[in-house]
Amino acid sequence: MLVSRLSAAPSLMGFRRPLAAVLSSTSSVSTWSKVTQGPPDAILGVTEAFKADPSPEKMNLGVGAYRDDSGKPYVLPSVRKAEADLLSQNLDKEYLGITGLASFTKAAGILAYGTDSPVLQENRLAITQSISGTGALRLGGAFLQRFYEDGPKKVWLPTPSWGNHTPIFRDAGLDVGTYRYFDPSTNGLNYEGMLEDLRNLDTGSIVLLHACAHNPTGVDPTREQWDEINRVCKERSHFIFFDMAYQGFASGNITQDSYALRSFVQAGHRVALSQSFAKNMGLYGERVGAFSLVCADEEERKRVESQVKILVRPLYSNPPVNGARIASRILNDPDLYNQWLSEVEGMASRIIDMRTQLRNHLEKDLGSSRPWRHITDQIGMFCFTGLTPDQVARITRDHHVYLTKDGRISVAGISSHNVDHLARAMHDVTK
Ligand SMILES: Cc1ncc(COP(=O)(O)O)c(C=O)c1O
Repeated sequence: MLVSRLSAAPSLMGFRRPLAAVLSSTSSVSTWSKVTQGPPDAILGVTEAFKADPSPEKMNLGVGAYRDDSGKPYVLPSVRKAEADLLSQNLDKEYLGITGLASFTKAAGILAYGTDSPVLQENRLAITQSISGTGALRLGGAFLQRFYEDGPKKVWLPTPSWGNHTPIFRDAGLDVGTYRYFDPSTNGLNYEGMLEDLRNLDTGSIVLLHACAHNPTGVDPTREQWDEINRVCKERSHFIFFDMAYQGFASGNITQDSYALRSFVQAGHRVALSQSFAKNMGLYGERVGAFSLVCADEEERKRVESQVKILVRPLYSNPPVNGARIASRILNDPDLYNQWLSEVEGMASRIIDMRTQLRNHLEKDLGSSRPWRHITDQIGMFCFTGLTPDQVARITRDHHVYLTKDGRISVAGISSHNVDHLARAMHDVTK
């Protein structure tokens, strides 16, 4: 069919070119010949190397996904139950509205801001379903790029931050800067440096804060430190963009992990928020999240929401329905909700237990004289071990332990079966 059409097609000049000439002219210079090879994704590269390693001892601590104690991906029983309920309802597959499933976004708002939040009671939260946390950040970036006028169109990120933050905000057309956060000498928070940087930013700067379980360091401010950060940001009229990808994962308690967000809102900050249900519901590939903006009043909320819709429509039209239905079912059914809360707590406490075991192995069983306290001080899915790039290369080569070059391990990938292997490997490369 194609050949006959091509050979029959008259050229613009009014005469036919032989088919062979047409084909050779189209294949000689490719449209994409100037596209350069991009670097592989840092984290997915670790997984590829892991897969290629035949060793039975190998451990993949690169990727931030929860594993059960046998090292297997974990589908929460509450999610399985919600799926079974949904299946039995024989639901259709029609499009959602632009801002997604209302029963989901309403419940997501309550989960983050709290049932009694005046923001919800006064109907001044503009919220939309998003393509998980990444999509919420990207949409927030686009909104700020288009509408933010109280300060520079530049987002300030902690050093270090999740590797995707910079490209997300750059691609949204914003500049990106950094403020001090992690102190390598203590493997803890550089609190004074952070406050000084926040004080020195232009007034009305856009500051991204990890709401809890900071990725990649696992270092969160204490409540007292959050209160001071809150005060400084208020004094400088900074605009706060909270990234909350791990609500419940830090402490095991949903309310405790929303302390930063809720206390900032209580202090009068009109924040932006990205929420992800990838980790706390294990809905990674379902892409369930929400983006919200706290507005001054209901009238402003309506205007803001109308513009969020105008941003979403040409991007992806409307969000996917399946994961949002699962999350909505869990958040709105009291029994399932309670079951889910205890499952989140279960995941968090397994992670906390792995931290304790790893530290104990290193300090007590192996007698390592290096300080390992940060393993248990840090919180959430990740631990910034303090291993140098050279030590990371050695632990991978000699012990088949895979992690990112910055020394970050996903504690969720450790199990009671391999924690001693990891401890011996860490001890060996740090002796
Ligand atoms: C800090 C942080 N923000 C956002 C995300 C977004 O994840 P997702 O798009 O899977 O919800 C992640 C995932 O690793 C993260 O660590």
